[in-house]
Amino acid sequence: MPVYHSLGTIPKKRHLAFRRPDGGLYAEQLMGNEGFTGPSSLLYHIRPPTTLLSVKKLQELEWEPDDCGGLRHRHFRTARLAEGGSPTLDRVPLLFNADIAMLFARPTVADQHFYRNAQADEVVYVSEGSGVLESVYGDLPYREGDYLLIHRGILHRYRMSPGPQKLLIFESRGYVRTPKRYRNEFGQIVEGAPYSERDFRRPLELETHDETGEFRLIVKQYNALHEHILDHHPFDVVGWDGMFYPWAFNIHDFEPIVGRVHQPPPVHQTFQGDGFVICSFCPRPFDFHPEAVPAPYNHSNVDSDEVLYYASSEFMSRKGIEYGSITHHPDGLPHGPHPGRAEASIGMKETNELAVMMDSFRPLHVAKPAMPIEDPTYQRSWVEGGAAFNPPTS
Ligand SMILES: [Fe+2]
Repeated sequence: MPVYHSLGTIPKKRHLAFRRPDGGLYAEQLMGNEGFTGPSSLLYHIRPPTTLLSVKKLQELEWEPDDCGGLRHRHFRTARLAEGGSPTLDRVPLLFNADIAMLFARPTVADQHFYRNAQADEVVYVSEGSGVLESVYGDLPYREGDYLLIHRGILHRYRMSPGPQKLLIFESRGYVRTPKRYRNEFGQIVEGAPYSERDFRRPLELETHDETGEFRLIVKQYNALHEHILDHHPFDVVGWDGMFYPWAFNIHDFEPIVGRVHQPPPVHQTFQGDGFVICSFCPRPFDFHPEAVPAPYNHSNVDSDEVLYYASSEFMSRKGIEYGSITHHPDGLPHGPHPGRAEASIGMKETNELAVMMDSFRPLHVAKPAMPIEDPTYQRSWVEGGAAFNPPTS
């Protein structure tokens, strides 16, 4: 949940005449969710944001589930996805349900268009790369390890720095926020939470573009992409204030909570959505009871699917996992440490793991484009010396 923020020039009070140097009115715009009662911001544009020259439907984006071929644990290797394309338009869907979707992109080509996701909040985990997230709210520099929170409706564009970019994208039907238990009744992050407001980065520079012409916006809505041509540069805001804007939080600013014995995954919770949570597993000292078993015990995810993205090559409880791996442990069957890992973890002092976890409360579908990067042996990987597993038939 971001704090109140303001950039540029705004009038002393809301909804009063605020004039441009030429005497005309700036165009005031409220942006926020839940009608007029949720988090919102007021923006002041040189020109009205409504002057569209044309509208065209570009592409349907229906995601197809695979025929799972039997409920099982699954493993996908994002390192095998091809590099290329746009950070907003060339995203490979991997897992999805009605609440949350996970996609992956390895973009190489900067967008010329501006992008707005009108149907989902986006949490973009920057696994590799850096740059600047440009938006109508100003510039927000990003770097490796950042979660970028781009709430629905925010027009933006990635200005990528040279070098590889790997983006893990979550699309959330609901508003993504900090967990309620981390906030007091006044909205402030409480002592004991794994981060504080100082760790949230906000747009810091507002550049106002006073240009007319034809500017291409691509809007995602109704599971489709739509092209809008605006008659002026959309980043023409001279000032704004409020609590609805894109923000960033770096995974290395997450302060892990540790204990004498194994702490359950909720201590790693970072964000809350509707129907899912996102957690960060960061380098930390292990449990310090002399007989503690730091490896996680076997557990059944009753009422949730568990997805882990391995953001570094080291993760204690798995074999055969690589940087960029995604494991999916669905509701309906237990999972736990691989053979020998529980014993091996006893006495270990620390872990250097780095992983992003998403737990969904409703079952996830595997999207068909994830099938070519699936490791079909994963399902039998808990069987010591296990024989090769027959690949899925779907
Ligand atoms: Fe688990």
